[in-house]
Amino acid sequence: MKTRITELFGIQHPIIQGGMHFVGFAELAAAVSNAGGLGIITGLTQKTPENLAREIARCREMTDKPFGVNLTFLPVIEAPDYDGLIKVIIDGGVKAVETAGNNPSKYLPALREAGIKVIHKCTSVRHALKAQSIGCDAVSVDGFECGGHPGEDDVPNMILLPRAADELEIPFVASGGMADARSLVASLAMGADGMNMGTRFLATREAPVHDNVKQAIVQASELDTRLVMRPLRNTERVLNNPAVERLLQTEREKGAQLEFADIAKEVAGVYPRVMQQGDVGAGAWSCGMVAGLIHDIPTCKELIDRIMSEAEQIIRQRLLGML
Ligand SMILES: Cc1cc2nc3c(=O)[nH]c(=O)nc-3n(C[C@H](O)[C@H](O)[C@H](O)COP(=O)(O)O)c2cc1C
Repeated sequence: MKTRITELFGIQHPIIQGGMHFVGFAELAAAVSNAGGLGIITGLTQKTPENLAREIARCREMTDKPFGVNLTFLPVIEAPDYDGLIKVIIDGGVKAVETAGNNPSKYLPALREAGIKVIHKCTSVRHALKAQSIGCDAVSVDGFECGGHPGEDDVPNMILLPRAADELEIPFVASGGMADARSLVASLAMGADGMNMGTRFLATREAPVHDNVKQAIVQASELDTRLVMRPLRNTERVLNNPAVERLLQTEREKGAQLEFADIAKEVAGVYPRVMQQGDVGAGAWSCGMVAGLIHDIPTCKELIDRIMSEAEQIIRQRLLGML
């Protein structure tokens, strides 16, 4: 399958693995890229430019295919050394960067000068158009279903994707709620040139996280996610658990007076405990509604091969057969 996204990134299949905190290490990025998609290392998980440079080098040892790095610009207590991170991305010969969160315009000139393709992840048509106007090469349109930060507009992909298609000139991938061949074909039908997946790639053999996390996703249904931090306008979709119930109770009790400190116990420093130690009840961690469509833990190659062959069947048999 050839789309504007496969051409832009020089990949075989129009499938991207979104950056994921404490998940997007070299092992996962390389596995996705080796399977013909675009694997992404999560920049901020590495904390320092030196660590990120090492992770990029490790990934390069594991794959000779293109891979990318995610740079997330979200409200954090101590701002990371973005200039340093960008320098090692450029020096490491990385060909693609996925930006997310705040406007990345400050960093675009350096990335573009180095020939790096930038795909900005955003949750509204407004922000997608902004990304296009500042010179991003593509956007990842992240609907309300998504794991992680869906923004504050709450527009699901059935509406958001065709709206993006109506307005955008640059290519975009559908993100949020994507799991299988049906997701891919539907996204293409709605005007996208591929899809981005987070939660689905978390439940793969190569994802370097504790097995408890993968089992929690397989066991979860589409009813098991919750939105936290809405009162702080930093909404995150997470898998429900007793810590998340406590957090939501605090949000209800504090109302408009809620401050980050009130819920820090349930959100700060949670990722290493969940992803590495397997303490899935340690606090709030991102997970999409798409958990309801995830029933197995395949390798990245099995997953991507299955998506591509079933997508071909849907197009050739189910859709063409209807005409
Ligand atoms: C555990 C987890 C951690 C994530 N961390 C990040 C992150 O650090 N930066 C980012 O831009 N997106 C992050 N995301 C969002 C994903 O890149 C992707 O946009 C999202 O998962 C898509 O929705 P889906 O889970 O329904 O596929 C995370 C998602 C998950 C599930």
